[in-house]
Amino acid sequence: MRAMRHHWLLLGACGWVLLILMFVSKLITFRAVDDYGDRAVIQKWTVPGKPAPPASSPGKSEPNPKPSHQPSSAPSVADWQPVAERRVELLAAVCKNGSLRNLTHVSVGKFVLDRIFVCDKHKILFCQTPKVGNTQWKKVLIVLNGEFSSVEEIPENLVHDHEKNGLPRLSSLPPREITHRLNTYFKFLIVRDPFERLISAFKDKFVKNPRFEPWYKHDIAPAIIRKYRKSHRDGDGDGTAAAPGLRFEDFVRYLGDAEGRRRRVDRQFGEHVIHWVTYAELCAPCEIRYDVVGHHETLERDAPYILKAAGIERLVSYPAIPPGITRYNRTKVEHYFSGISKRDIRRLYARYQGDFHLFGYPTPDFLLN
Ligand SMILES: *[C@@H]1O[C@H](CO)[C@@H](O)[C@H](O)[C@H]1NC(C)=O
Ligand SMILES: *[C@@H]1O[C@H](CO)[C@@H](O)[C@H](O)[C@H]1NC(C)=O
Ligand SMILES: *[C@@H]1O[C@H](CO)[C@@H](O)[C@H](O)[C@H]1NC(C)=O
Repeated sequence: MRAMRHHWLLLGACGWVLLILMFVSKLITFRAVDDYGDRAVIQKWTVPGKPAPPASSPGKSEPNPKPSHQPSSAPSVADWQPVAERRVELLAAVCKNGSLRNLTHVSVGKFVLDRIFVCDKHKILFCQTPKVGNTQWKKVLIVLNGEFSSVEEIPENLVHDHEKNGLPRLSSLPPREITHRLNTYFKFLIVRDPFERLISAFKDKFVKNPRFEPWYKHDIAPAIIRKYRKSHRDGDGDGTAAAPGLRFEDFVRYLGDAEGRRRRVDRQFGEHVIHWVTYAELCAPCEIRYDVVGHHETLERDAPYILKAAGIERLVSYPAIPPGITRYNRTKVEHYFSGISKRDIRRLYARYQGDFHLFGYPTPDFLLN
């Protein structure tokens, strides 16, 4: 009898702990550990077989994963094919441009292989480019690999734990397996305007400074300020002291200093630099033949196109993307670069122009001249 009571008490306690855990995990989810950088976009990816979460707009039904059931007004995936093909052709053409060689060609070493995630079940490789909304894609691939049955079930702390989430990095495989996958799998990456990406990285890592990444503010920012702030007396003395911490201006000067960075500062920062090294350095797009290059600015068209091209459009549906959220915002870019010297901006551009050319982003003349 006593033993029975104990059992019930234990069960009750477990129930409470479970409830609290669920609540805490919800809180963490809604803090939106998402790499859009700007306004947090909470997207709902759904997998058939699981009840879809309630849509944010109650009047509209969830888009059906099967393209044939989509409203006829929806733009067709086939219409997007010429755009996607032109991007891949442009990429190949720019890779051949000798005068950009230094900025476009990299060796496919461990750094690059660490960026690429493997979905063996559906023969997909995905190169992660931070600040471009990649977390959602990673979640989809985790689900497709089978470790979790829906995106909502993936604990937030496991999304980036590739030892445990069933989405291995390409670097974890033996060389022969790597080559085989690079040669035969569907490969894609997503990019966005290179300068907007840097603004997003700056905001996310140095302004918002999430508590779980203290090193950006406490280690990296002071190192950059020491080396790149023009006047160390800035903000001293008078009452109009600038806010403490890294300014976008310091960040731009640091990023534009190719030589100094590579030799000294970046090595000390280790993997953290993935948030601002070029797409070329992250994903080696001239060495690895990607099938599709998605653009953040046109994600509404690219997401369904990628799902179709990868042959998984029947397995996952794509979320509704809030209108305007992915669009290039020139006002914001101008705002961030205002007051920064042309010389520093040109140096920054010199360093990132490979990315502008490779992915067809127009040269930001309004900042350079
Ligand atoms: C190669 O890139 C440079 C620098 O952007 C450009 O001026 C030149 O026209 C390009 N050459 C070709 C053949 O596209
Ligand atoms: C490429 O880089 C090397 C060494 O970093 C440099 O000597 C060379 O001038 C660069 N070439 C171009 C075309 O920028
Ligand atoms: C563009 O950025 C500016 C400045 O950050 C902001 O005020 C504006 O709302 C943004 N526009 C859009 C369409 O998001």
